[in-house]
Amino acid sequence: MVELAAKQGVRPTDPSVQASPLAIRGLTVSYNQKPAVFSVDMTVQLGSMTAIIGPNGAGKSTLLKAALGIVRPVSGQVTVFGRPLEKQRARIAYVPQRASVDWDFPTRVIDVVLMGLSRELGLLGRVRMRHIAKAMDCLNRVGMHDFADRQIGQLSGGQQQRVFLARALAQDADLYLLDEPFAGVDAATEKAIIAVLKSLKQAGKTVVAVHHDLATVTDYFDHVFLINTRKLAAGPVDEAFTAETLQATYGGRLATAQIDQIAGALG
Ligand SMILES: Nc1ncnc2c1ncn2[C@@H]1O[C@H](COP(=O)(O)OP(=O)(O)OP(=O)(O)O)[C@@H](O)[C@H]1O
Ligand SMILES: [Mg+2]
Repeated sequence: MVELAAKQGVRPTDPSVQASPLAIRGLTVSYNQKPAVFSVDMTVQLGSMTAIIGPNGAGKSTLLKAALGIVRPVSGQVTVFGRPLEKQRARIAYVPQRASVDWDFPTRVIDVVLMGLSRELGLLGRVRMRHIAKAMDCLNRVGMHDFADRQIGQLSGGQQQRVFLARALAQDADLYLLDEPFAGVDAATEKAIIAVLKSLKQAGKTVVAVHHDLATVTDYFDHVFLINTRKLAAGPVDEAFTAETLQATYGGRLATAQIDQIAGALG
């Protein structure tokens, strides 16, 4: 019954869809006829911080890209704040998985952040002092203001990651989608990034991040979404992040001892 409803698409009257910053129904995405994401439903809670968790190749990045309309699904619907994605793009900021951008032409850090202001700048793209000030403020929030004039391609991976977060902040979005924001960053940078994300939550924004470090899930997030091509579990961390759901998601890929340790820490 539920399956059938999903295939028929999002019902505009469904209150859970209306209230959700990101509601996905019956999403299947395939590459070369092989599903990377299969029949997935997702309802992100307003003002939550949700971790998308699953092994390599589980379809996490694909799920985010489909939510953004970057990849075309075989089937399924995406609703953003109760309306079709196409009408709501300006409300979403996206920080892609690292190393997915190759900077082969010189671009200054400040210009990368100004890209986040493109809607505000309009067609003529005339950059004014207030735009620069806003971009600098965003760089300041991620501790990168001293690097404004540097070439983005000359920064370390972790520094680039912070600049992309600053660009997302400049967008003043309501929904932030981040693909592994902590991958390969040092402890200080991770702290800085999580502080920024928590401040977004405090401001009423919604944050969804692909996350690999199972040990920090309970500290950083209030909701989880476990995926391995199919959705395995979703909900508040204390309900959906358990030894059973981790086992279902990772199977043999995660040692039982590791699962027990995480589950033990959960109490
Ligand atoms: N552009 C593409 N063309 C073909 N196959 C792809 C493409 N992008 C992803 N895939 C495949 O789809 C599956 C899901 O990939 P995806 O990048 O979504 O996984 P992921 O969960 O983000 O993994 P990771 O933890 O390694 O980032 C993988 O098997 C991957 O090889
Ligand atoms: Mg990925």
